[in-house]
Amino acid sequence: MAGEVSALADSWIAVADDAKVNEGVPLAVYPKGVNILLVRVDGVVHAIANKCAHMACPLEGGRLEGYVITCPCHDWSFDVRDGAFTQAGEIVIATYPTKLEDGKIMLSLEGVAL
Ligand code: FES
Repeated sequence: MAGEVSALADSWIAVADDAKVNEGVPLAVYPKGVNILLVRVDGVVHAIANKCAHMACPLEGGRLEGYVITCPCHDWSFDVRDGAFTQAGEIVIATYPTKLEDGKIMLSLEGVAL
């Protein structure tokens, strides 16, 4: 049992100081080499893949309006809460659970093939 608890705890990785993730300013992080974008909207930090579903452009230079980030390359847009492409919800980019712990934004890569 103790091993299970430990494995679960290990799935969370500190990726940024909470104070460095500013409202409406996407921040790229690379836990275990995975390119992820942190986006704070209304105080809540969301984590999405920093890779567009169209032709893989990084989303970090995109335009953020509310919960929607628009890719800088060809204007595909995604909801940062669930990764859904706004024009066709069946196209989805990865999202990751986040939590705040001791002033750090923690992110879970559980289930991600590394
Ligand atoms: S690569 Fe993002 S819209 Fe084309």
